Amino acid sequence: MLDKEFLRLKDIIEDHILDFLPEVDHKSITLYDAMKYSLKANGKRVRPVLLLAACNFSGGNERLALPYACAIEYIHTYSLIHDDLPAMDNDDLRRGIPTNHKVFGEAIAILAGDGLLTSAFEAMNKDMLLYFDNIDKLKSRIKAVYEISKGSGCRGMIAGQIADIEAEGKQCSTEMLDYIHLNKTSALISSAVKAGAHLGGADKDMLHDLDEYAENLGLAFQICDDILDIEGKEEDMGKKIGADKEKNKSTYPSLYGLENSKLRVKELTSNAIAVMEPYYDNAEFFVNIAEELAVRIK
Ligand code: IPE
Ligand code: IPE
Ligand code: MG
Ligand code: MG
Ligand code: MG
Repeated sequence: MLDKEFLRLKDIIEDHILDFLPEVDHKSITLYDAMKYSLKANGKRVRPVLLLAACNFSGGNERLALPYACAIEYIHTYSLIHDDLPAMDNDDLRRGIPTNHKVFGEAIAILAGDGLLTSAFEAMNKDMLLYFDNIDKLKSRIKAVYEISKGSGCRGMIAGQIADIEAEGKQCSTEMLDYIHLNKTSALISSAVKAGAHLGGADKDMLHDLDEYAENLGLAFQICDDILDIEGKEEDMGKKIGADKEKNKSTYPSLYGLENSKLRVKELTSNAIAVMEPYYDNAEFFVNIAEELAVRIK
């Protein structure tokens, strides 16, 4: 992602990514080291950047949204650590370095994931404690955490992950494939945007538009990931290419073919852009991100 605003927000995330982890006892320092190992690796930071951008777009202050942005990156990073485990996708490379379990072992990798997930909610709750005397600000924070809980939970990412695992080695329906992608990936991306919108104080119409934008973007994002698993380069992706075919995963290219998958990305990104166009210059960031996504798979 080369958009200037994207890079500015990404830098803020890089500077603060460890700030919202709880202080751990020295006796459990391995846990902290394992969490830090995956967090500090080279992630694109798409979800926290979207959260900050949605907060700014809705009139909020990005600095005040930082605990939530970092929390969503903790949740995403935990999901990657667990996704890579031998019992799931069994991958050795992530973010350009060996996967967490390859370095720390499976037991510690599972616990590092658990630690990141729970730290996310601790960080957000700690921030909410500051707003007991401001009911409106407290309400917007509760709404943000609710979105993040839903998107990462059993009606979102986890639902998608279990469907993804169960579809392995099977011919799944196109409807099921959309269910998988919308849940395992789009749900967390949408919750980042919606949480940012709540923190910024978006009204109902703006929330509706951002939600529609993010759902289209999120689905396009996972289809791109499927396409790049075939056409990408390991050094760009930071993970092994060809892993989906090896595991006989149900993906867009496996069901629709590469060219149709690319057309679908184009269609979804134009849908996303169309939703934001009425906001003109204010939505430049969101339009650019959607355009850059389509360019990734050209
Ligand atoms: C990888 O997410 C998992 C998917 C949902 C496709 P990203 O492509 O955002 O991975 P990082 O955070 O940049 O490593
Ligand atoms: C993972 O999807 C989505 C998650 C919730 C982690 P993939 O399994 O396709 O992601 P990669 O390709 O390993 O990054
Ligand atoms: Mg997976
Ligand atoms: Mg995987
Ligand atoms: Mg993938």
